[in-house]
Amino acid sequence: MLHHHSHTRPAQTEGRLIRWAPFYDTLTNILTLGHADRLRRMTIDLALLKPGESLLDVGCGTGGVTIPAKERLGPSGKAVGVDPAPEMIDVARQKAQHKGTDVDFRIGVIENLPFPDASFDVVTASLMIHHLPVHLQVKGLAEIYRVLRPGGRLLIVDMLSPNASHGRQMLTFLAMHRRLESGLEAYQTLLKDAGFQDVTQSDQHFFVIGFLRATK
Ligand SMILES: C[S@@+](CC[C@H](N)C(=O)[O-])C[C@H]1O[C@@H](n2cnc3c(N)ncnc32)[C@H](O)[C@@H]1O
Repeated sequence: MLHHHSHTRPAQTEGRLIRWAPFYDTLTNILTLGHADRLRRMTIDLALLKPGESLLDVGCGTGGVTIPAKERLGPSGKAVGVDPAPEMIDVARQKAQHKGTDVDFRIGVIENLPFPDASFDVVTASLMIHHLPVHLQVKGLAEIYRVLRPGGRLLIVDMLSPNASHGRQMLTFLAMHRRLESGLEAYQTLLKDAGFQDVTQSDQHFFVIGFLRATK
């Protein structure tokens, strides 16, 4: 059986949940050809995390970004991860506990973030925006804008647009994401519409995964 559903109910959302959490890290490692750690390091580097800052990781899944991010932020920093799937939150909490990393993992959704205005220095959204219908992408980015402090930054990590020049690597990811119509490039407009400034796509990429950074 593939689904080991948690006893806790998932948060209501039109986003696509992942509930096969115990297998998620293994699959990520296969899809990244064993380089998941490198993807995570790039993500944390490009989020420009500094010790003592506060981070929100939306759609945190099993905490692949949240946990190493908290290690970078240090004891004076704060990291919070939010995901609607209780199974993901369970795995993330177990991993953090095992590593002795203090991360606040909560069930929640990007379209209704349970935090006051201007409460974070940094928000990361890794491999999750493509799980949302466009209207939730719009609502979610507005919520991220709200919870960021002025001058705070957002890093989106996601698949680049399907493009023949990406060749065979793209095929592996597209096999997993048959409905992927747009990609990272399309989010630039959404970010600007949400009021973000300095919207910049990084020159760096990891296979077909790219990085988009913006400032409030
Ligand atoms: C491919 S996983 C990415 C997990 C993690 N960020 C990473 O980089 O490994 C996408 C995640 O988005 C979550 N998700 C789906 N709808 C969401 C929503 N409305 N708000 C927040 N997260 C959502 C899913 O449950 C899933 O854990």
